[in-house]
Amino acid sequence: MSIIKLLTSSVGRKILMAITGLLLSFFMTFHLFGNLFLFVGEAAFNGYVEKLHKLGFLIRIAEFFLVLFVFSHAYSGILLWIKNRKAKKVVSSYSKENTPGAAKYAAFTGSIVFIFLATHWSTFWYKFNFDLGGMSYYYVVTESQVGFGSPLVSIFYIVAIALLGYHLKHGITSAGQTLGIVGTKYEKTYNNIAAIFWFWIPLGFISIPVWFGFLVRII
Ligand code: HEM
Repeated sequence: MSIIKLLTSSVGRKILMAITGLLLSFFMTFHLFGNLFLFVGEAAFNGYVEKLHKLGFLIRIAEFFLVLFVFSHAYSGILLWIKNRKAKKVVSSYSKENTPGAAKYAAFTGSIVFIFLATHWSTFWYKFNFDLGGMSYYYVVTESQVGFGSPLVSIFYIVAIALLGYHLKHGITSAGQTLGIVGTKYEKTYNNIAAIFWFWIPLGFISIPVWFGFLVRII
């Protein structure tokens, strides 16, 4: 089978989704690590972003691949969703009832994550790279109206990232099946590591809008 044929087959698409999904999950770890500098303070966070930007071209290459992974993951997801829907019309509703929640809503949660990322890039990423207007990076995230200075933005981040966690709960389990880990002696270890990605890392992200959007203003 040629590589193009493999990548456009259902199995190939599932493998592509598993790999791009896992790579995006790894990225989240680094991204959370950087964002946690917000809790250290303004100078620490600004210093971290400046160091990152000094990498220049390397960052652009990384961003190019991240966007590529997001789009190819979403594209394959949509095609598989359409295929499954058609198949479900043929099979009885029995299988539908047995589908676990996170899997049943994967297309919905994935769409919200996509909307979240589009919003995230057109605000934070755009401002950080092209429209800082004399503001500090820290201020953009914690005080500006595209950041957690707006309660609506904070709520949007909390809800969208919680749904991202739910999306990953299904996604990482499904990736384990596709890559042949489920059913082997590594399954338990895999599931324990998976929980870091679908529960603890999203919780870490959520702590940022919860703290800067609400708690810091009350305490
Ligand atoms: C509280 C939560 C978050 C904050 C404060 C935050 C902050 C930021 C900031 C400031 C940037 C621009 C960085 C720069 O260009 O220097 C950025 C970019 C980005 N964010 Fe987030 N982010 C959050 C959550 C997420 C989540 C959950 C994802 C999902 C995977 C994500 C994915 C990305 C991606 C792919 C980029 C572009 C790549 C990059 O420039 O690093 N972010 N984020």
